[in-house]
Amino acid sequence: MKTLVLKVDSEEPDIEKVRLAADFIKKGGLVAFPTETVYGLGANALDAEAVLALFEAKKRPLDNPPIVHICDVKDVCRLAEKVPPQAEVLMERFWPGPLTLIFKRSDVVPDVTVAGLDTVAVRMPKHNVALALIRESGCPIAAPSANLAGKPSPTSAEHVLDDLSGRIDAVLDAGPTVVGVESTVLDLTVDPPQVLRPGGTPFEVLRQVLGRVELNPAVTAEKALRMEQVRSPGLRHKHYAPDAEVAVVEGEVDAVVAKVNDLVKLYREDGRKVGVLATDETAARYSGCVVKSLGSRGDLAVVARNLFRLLREFDLEGVDVIVAEGVPAEGLGLAVMNRLRKASGYHIVKAR
Ligand code: TXA
Ligand code: MG
Repeated sequence: MKTLVLKVDSEEPDIEKVRLAADFIKKGGLVAFPTETVYGLGANALDAEAVLALFEAKKRPLDNPPIVHICDVKDVCRLAEKVPPQAEVLMERFWPGPLTLIFKRSDVVPDVTVAGLDTVAVRMPKHNVALALIRESGCPIAAPSANLAGKPSPTSAEHVLDDLSGRIDAVLDAGPTVVGVESTVLDLTVDPPQVLRPGGTPFEVLRQVLGRVELNPAVTAEKALRMEQVRSPGLRHKHYAPDAEVAVVEGEVDAVVAKVNDLVKLYREDGRKVGVLATDETAARYSGCVVKSLGSRGDLAVVARNLFRLLREFDLEGVDVIVAEGVPAEGLGLAVMNRLRKASGYHIVKAR
């Protein structure tokens, strides 16, 4: 299979190209498309065979369900058995946007789409290409991130092609994504609602709106949790990992810089090529290694936007080990730290 690349404007996509992509979806095919968070790999969510092909293309374990993407709030009623009052408030306030809501599912959703669970994850992405594709396809679109399972999520069409070229029908290329980390996943089937995955909608903002809302323990875990403690299937699997080994160094900035330099020295003595994932404030304080800056510590939205791209760049440069600076776990920083810790397989070093 040759993967068709369809370049489109992110604000006003060429409708002919979107229709071409939608034709693949209607026929049970697979199309990667941009959202505001990361690129997704889409299939008709109501077509069990198409969704099965989606899992295969990504090499994704069948027990980890994708998110179902919609372009109209009314579609929630078809997919969800019950829409709690809180959901109305959240959809009004945050959709379209990087917030995924978990509902009790209805019978129209095939088992494979929800990995046999009695719940379904739904979101309306804030991206004109994604919304146009869903509209033209005439169905809800199941879409996990468009990477091979376990790899960092793709924030550009190039990343998608690096992982999936020849395995999917087409990719709509509208340039790099804006948010850079995936949506926040919020479970509304429990009381109080629980964040299963931190993402593009900050926890602090959800708390302002909801009052009562919790973080699943796995979100802030400093080591892998036991299976029965983990509510979201995706949290069980290895995730976001570049080929290089990753270590995350956490603490106050000066202590972090000192510890990162110690580690760089140790790894180099081992003959390994070392990359440092730094910030604008600290990048000049490292040498003898490949240094990349996530952006300023004062702008965690930019840090989030750059994270996955830089992890992939280290791999392209053949780095053996990445030493990453931790950033404050607030706002989008919570999602960044969650991804970094998972990418490291919980190889967390505390700098004091
Ligand atoms: O920003 C995003 O959310 C991107 C773009 C493409 O929309 N999508 C994305 O999908 O990140 P994916 O499949 O990589 O992550 C979906 C997450 C996984 O952690 C999965 O376990 C969780 O949502 N999830 C899906 N259905 C669920 C359910 N019924 N209950 C609990 N967690 C669920
Ligand atoms: Mg993913």
